[in-house]
Amino acid sequence: MRIYRENDYEAMSRRAASILAAEVVRRPDCVLGLATGSSPEGTYRYLADWNKQGLLSFREVKTVNLDEYKGLAPDHDQSYRFFMQDRFFSRVDILPENTRVPDGLAEDSAAECAAYDAYIQSLGGVDLQLLGIGRNGHIGFNEPGDCFVKGTHVVDLAPSTIEANARFFASPGDVPQQAFTMGIGNILAARKILLVASGADKAEALYRAACGPISPQCPGSILQLHPDVALVGDEAALSKLTAAGVPVCG
Ligand code: F6R
Repeated sequence: MRIYRENDYEAMSRRAASILAAEVVRRPDCVLGLATGSSPEGTYRYLADWNKQGLLSFREVKTVNLDEYKGLAPDHDQSYRFFMQDRFFSRVDILPENTRVPDGLAEDSAAECAAYDAYIQSLGGVDLQLLGIGRNGHIGFNEPGDCFVKGTHVVDLAPSTIEANARFFASPGDVPQQAFTMGIGNILAARKILLVASGADKAEALYRAACGPISPQCPGSILQLHPDVALVGDEAALSKLTAAGVPVCG
């Protein structure tokens, strides 16, 4: 795992965007795995700016998102499809038909999961997967548990995740209890992984992911087995790793 330490959220976002942009320049028809949440918002902002300036094009890029709340319609303002449209897809020249997010309203969950895995397969897999990490170590919505789940599946969200995401909903009772998520196998199959994290509340999760035992109790720890992971964090998020003497770039 290569660890890039940046001063703050802005610098973290710029660095992450430049790693992602390099992939798109190198391979204009690449497949990007995308994440939602606070961590990648700044990254999307930089990419949209560079697209607007004509420095980068997403015309041939295809995207697959990690996850979606079960039960939320694509136009619900807290759905991940809405987030992606609002923060990224509507701001760049990507073709709508080249973007895919699990369908939160799918009636047959098993069929939706199987179709999602088949779609990723049909694209030839993901070239670069962007990830955030939960305070409990989750990646995608793979919550801490007794085993790693391989493919796209439906999860019961952990109480701590519901609590962390309640800030976006009118009340904690409005937060969906379940979500579709790519599995750990989908994430590990990506050729490259870019993990972004900022803030002191991610320090423990990052430390456990990068240095702790590889265990489904900290799903992010599986990234230690991937050959090409870049972790871009700000100083606060990386504080536990740097205090432990883990080497970082920058
Ligand atoms: C979102 C996702 C989640 C988030 C994680 C961190 O698509 O897969 O794993 O990356 O919950 O969220 P933020 O960035 O909001 O702290």
